[in-house]
Amino acid sequence: DWVMRDHIAEAVEAIRRQVGDEEVILGLSGGVDSSVAAALIHRAIGDQLTCVFVDHGLLRLDEGDMVMDMFAGKLHAKVVRVDASELFLGKLAGVSEPEQKRKIIGGLFVDVFKAEAARIKESHSRHVAWLAQGTIYPDVIESGGGKSKKAVTIKSHHNVGGLPEQLGLKLLEPLRDLFKDEVRELGVALGLPPEMVYRHPFPGPGLGVRILGEVKREYADLLRRADAIFIQELRNFRDEASGKTWYDLTSQAFTVFLPVKSVGVMGDGRTYDYVVALRAVQTSDFMTADWAELPYALLKKVSSRIINEVRGINRVTYDVSSKPPATIEWE
Ligand code: XMP
Repeated sequence: DWVMRDHIAEAVEAIRRQVGDEEVILGLSGGVDSSVAAALIHRAIGDQLTCVFVDHGLLRLDEGDMVMDMFAGKLHAKVVRVDASELFLGKLAGVSEPEQKRKIIGGLFVDVFKAEAARIKESHSRHVAWLAQGTIYPDVIESGGGKSKKAVTIKSHHNVGGLPEQLGLKLLEPLRDLFKDEVRELGVALGLPPEMVYRHPFPGPGLGVRILGEVKREYADLLRRADAIFIQELRNFRDEASGKTWYDLTSQAFTVFLPVKSVGVMGDGRTYDYVVALRAVQTSDFMTADWAELPYALLKKVSSRIINEVRGINRVTYDVSSKPPATIEWE
């Protein structure tokens, strides 16, 4: 629409004026905000933008490849993918306390990003002067209003306070004045696929807080496959009354890996395998949330697919806890 096209033209003009002929680095997470910021800045300055995508090994199934396909493949943006899964899983070995896991993941993420940004700064012939972040208006308010100097620690470990100063870069935040729904509209208008722009939120520590206790690669691999089935069926099943898919009717849905084993039967044999919990909630602000009354037919399909397709999981449960007192994530 016209309003959005005007808005894009203005935003593009503002970014060009601000950046001039200098270069910009942006941390791409695959989330909505950093993706829309990347698409907008790329529209404005093309190859003067370099995106850094840190893969901590705790992403959903095929997520890293999808981010690369979208930004490097379709948008032809410069994207550096850093595969740091060995590093992250190594440092997480033996650690089971949730807050300690979050600190390790957040801290490592900053270290890896900083190292990569410094390398890019050194190696580029043009002057790399800017760090772009997908900070949106609610983040600005949450971090105390005015300038978003303080770290936005709960919602997104990617908007890290102090990082621009440490890297000797100026901060570029083209989404600072926008609400989430405006960011989504902007994303669609910039050509990002609606499935990406209307995705459920995903926590910075990723599957690290959806594998209870110690994180292991084996657990992450099982969880990724189970979760992909759940999400796929949520997108497949439609509510007849509204015509909407159950993915769109829920605010956040995911699978949690429980590192306990239970007994089952498969063919003539006994199994002794892991358990997963499905979680789906409806909420307007994520401060309180109701568990979603998913249709039994959907739960049935998901359960039988996970147990039949993911060897190593033989039991699926559904979480019927609301927030409060339960939180949305299990850790
Ligand atoms: P809880 O579990 O506190 O979650 O009810 C509320 C919302 O915040 C997300 N969340 C996080 N996001 N880093 C993030 O970027 C985190 O450490 C984190 N912990 C929770 C959660 O997914 C939900 O949308």
